[in-house]
Amino acid sequence: MSNKVKELKEKIALAQLGGGKARIESQHKKGKLTARERLTLLLDENSFEEIGMFVTHRSAEFGLEREKYLGDGVITGFGTIDGRPVYVFAQDFTVFGGSLSEAHAEKICRIMDLAMKNGAPVIGLNDSGGARIQEGVVSLGGYADIFYRNTRASGVVPQLSAVMGPCAGGAVYSPAITDFILMVENTSYMFVTGPNVVKTVTHEEVTSEELGGASTHSSKSGVAHFSCANGVECIQYLKKLLSYIPQNCEEPPPSVEYTPGDEKRPALNSIVPENSNQPYDIREVIEQVSDSGTFFEVHKNFAENIVVGFARLAGKSIGVVANQPACLAGVLDINCSVKAARFVRFCDSFNIPLLVFEDVPGFLPGTDQEWKGIIANGAKLLYAFCEATVPRITVITRKAYGGAYDVMNSKHIGADMNYAWPTAEIAVMGAKGAAEIIFKKEISEAKDPAAKLKEKEEAYITHFANPYRAAERGYVDEVILPEDTRIKLIRAFDMLQNKVDKLPRKKHGNIPL
Ligand code: HXC
Repeated sequence: MSNKVKELKEKIALAQLGGGKARIESQHKKGKLTARERLTLLLDENSFEEIGMFVTHRSAEFGLEREKYLGDGVITGFGTIDGRPVYVFAQDFTVFGGSLSEAHAEKICRIMDLAMKNGAPVIGLNDSGGARIQEGVVSLGGYADIFYRNTRASGVVPQLSAVMGPCAGGAVYSPAITDFILMVENTSYMFVTGPNVVKTVTHEEVTSEELGGASTHSSKSGVAHFSCANGVECIQYLKKLLSYIPQNCEEPPPSVEYTPGDEKRPALNSIVPENSNQPYDIREVIEQVSDSGTFFEVHKNFAENIVVGFARLAGKSIGVVANQPACLAGVLDINCSVKAARFVRFCDSFNIPLLVFEDVPGFLPGTDQEWKGIIANGAKLLYAFCEATVPRITVITRKAYGGAYDVMNSKHIGADMNYAWPTAEIAVMGAKGAAEIIFKKEISEAKDPAAKLKEKEEAYITHFANPYRAAERGYVDEVILPEDTRIKLIRAFDMLQNKVDKLPRKKHGNIPL
């Protein structure tokens, strides 16, 4: 072996050691994988090609000139996942705490530029102490360069962020602009200002985990879409997520082999309870209708009154949005509107057809919701559906009341097909409220007002608490047996597979943010 070859081999070995054995051990002691271990788990065997392995920082301040590591705290490159190309960066906490220097940022930007030019997803494994403090404004500029690219790439290529360690200050805004955030329980956190600053400013005492840990962001703030038990699970979720989404906005999502079989699902006939005020779990419906074991829920613990996630139907990827009668009776509120709107827009950006299950008593009333802006926030979901051009189908399983009937992917706002189960109830409002308003005089003048109210309520239910008024108008295309839902949907999505629908020419719309 020539000396030059030997020298190169030594350099590669050094680069692969990152910040050194002691720091790697310390990372393991905290229950964290190293950046290289994460990449090995994420990518197909031997598929990783590293870019910029020998890049170092160019700083000469605060002693940095004496401390340099090959790669400068981030491993960047490309590889494949299930044979599909992806661009990746993994921050290496063993080098200056994974902090972002000018050179570190340039490496990430290079990956993003390549992903954009070549139309493939970008996956970021974040584990960083934030801006490299010694570099000052140069590192802030580096972040801004990344934010700019995140925004330019939004809707062009999928961007996935795994937050696997600290992520603080303005650094949180890069993951926030990307499509999905996955966090790891107990080892990752995200916040704009940490517990110390919080204590100084507001006198609140809070731990990092409480303030911005995985469980906080996946259930309270909704910032994180997935909370994973550990680093390995996080990587598995990334791969699974990717299996439902296309390489870029010009391509269809990947599909898997499907052999037609008996598509009847008799269990669907008895999921909706006789009593229309009794809850049931809409996930049972989703699981029966979609290909067995393919439903992958997104934002599972946040705004649980709506369920969103990916599934496969006859091997093809779909996005599912469903009111959840088992939580707050499936009512629409601020959080669930925002959650669903974002999901609808993601699916629409990346050609993933939308399937909606509707069982919604209306919008949540009250000062809390009104003062926090249910009007503007509910409008986000309405806008997202109105704007979506992918194939869209709705199945009304039970309630479709008031404005929520319009919002939940009604035909009026562009749904391609609308089915209803015989248990569907489609009306302006519930029977009691309606009877009290329209028969107010008759009820108050009756000998027995309570009996009169009951009589009017029943008349209203007979007239409206069914899908047939809507079907007469063609607002519902077909009233179907629940057991036939799967076959109806397979055929309808097949029929819609070449759908072309274009929005009017515009710079961009103005969704009520
Ligand atoms: C340079 C950093 C660093 C940073 C950590 N290190 N953060 N070096 N710049 N931002 C170095 C440490 O000096 C240490 O080096 C090594 O990384 C590991 O850090 P520790 O503190 O020993 O690790 P740990 O105890 O696990 O604590 C991790 C931490 C803490 C919580 C992330 O390091 C920390 O609070 N760092 C600063 C976080 C921060 O305030 N960043 C700026 C945010 S503002 P040695 O040599 O000892 O191993 C921001 C603005 C972005 O990012 C704006 C974008 C718009």
